[in-house]
Amino acid sequence: MSAPPQPNPLPDPVPQLDLSAQYAAMGDEIRTAVERVMASQQFVLGREGAALEEEIAGLCGVAHGIGLASGTDALILALRVCGVQAGDEVLLPPFTFVATGSAVSALGAKPVFVDIRPDTYNINPSEFERRVTPRTRAIVVVHLYGLAADMDPILAFAKSRKLPVIEDNAQAIGASYKGRRTGSLGDLACLSFYPTKNLGAYGDAGMVVTNSVELAARIRTLRNHGQSAKYLSSEPGWNSRLDEIQAAILRVKLRHLSNWQRARQSHAAEYNRLISQIPGVMPPLAPEGFEHVYHQYTVRIEQRDALQKFLSERKIASAVYYPYPLHLQPLYSALGHKAGDFPHAERAAHEVLSLPMYPELRNEQIARVVENIGDFIKGN
Ligand SMILES: Cc1ncc(COP(=O)(O)O)c(C=O)c1O
Repeated sequence: MSAPPQPNPLPDPVPQLDLSAQYAAMGDEIRTAVERVMASQQFVLGREGAALEEEIAGLCGVAHGIGLASGTDALILALRVCGVQAGDEVLLPPFTFVATGSAVSALGAKPVFVDIRPDTYNINPSEFERRVTPRTRAIVVVHLYGLAADMDPILAFAKSRKLPVIEDNAQAIGASYKGRRTGSLGDLACLSFYPTKNLGAYGDAGMVVTNSVELAARIRTLRNHGQSAKYLSSEPGWNSRLDEIQAAILRVKLRHLSNWQRARQSHAAEYNRLISQIPGVMPPLAPEGFEHVYHQYTVRIEQRDALQKFLSERKIASAVYYPYPLHLQPLYSALGHKAGDFPHAERAAHEVLSLPMYPELRNEQIARVVENIGDFIKGN
């Protein structure tokens, strides 16, 4: 007697990100690097951290890197060495992770939001003039999702007002703008090595990169209790040191970053090709001269929440970065903003959806994601 027919097995879920696939491919290299640190018994401010600082600065095309405990600390320290203090104002986009704003608040300064461009989701420099005041002390730009902000007009405005520019490069390591890497475009740039980033540690870690020898030296001092020499502190700092185990892991992963970047870019091209046939879904824009590194592959669609639910029921993960713009966060209620103040950021918060994106993603998974988006559109 033949076996009864089996129902078709459900297809495997498609995760938004799969760090296990990465670890499976390189676990040996990671374990060797961690073992090397264990054998050295040097856990803080040692050779791995110093080597990583040099390697990341080199990748960004600048002279100095200062390893820190997180990307948030990188932002706080970069703002601090630009002289930002209580009562100052800092221009930044409202459509970003909250850390971009809370770093400003941590210094007692006021975030002043500048709306984004609807096509790139990055800060719109033509809005600066409306928002700048005599109290403006710095500009923070975010290279959201892995795409550089439009730096030429930003730098021209900053120069005309003598304002320092800090790049929040947490999501865009390896990206470039008109042939120059993000991280080298402003006065200082901040990196996050949070585990889900394109270059992610196995815990928290961050870095500031800069061409300024003075700013680098000051951040180096501030990250270590303001000590300019051993047990001699010249100003109040705290502990924001990047540890050797994280540095060693990041150095291993850094060797793979350009391959991973190419894989992300090729997945994005495949998504673009398939999505171009579906009406009502806007793929991410990578303008001429901008090299996007697709930390996220983010589409926009009016029925975003319904699409996300539809995909989730079909075991396809997706994510919303970010559902609440900063000006409407309870954190900033005292600033008195209301819905409608930054319409492009608000619309993006309602319409963006980040689809599965990681180097190990396979074309058949991309095809399944897009096929399901197509089914959703047909049924709506
Ligand atoms: C745009 C942006 N800025 C800042 C941060 C803060 O970095 P961290 O989580 O390393 O503190 C992140 C990441 O989490 C981010 O995505």
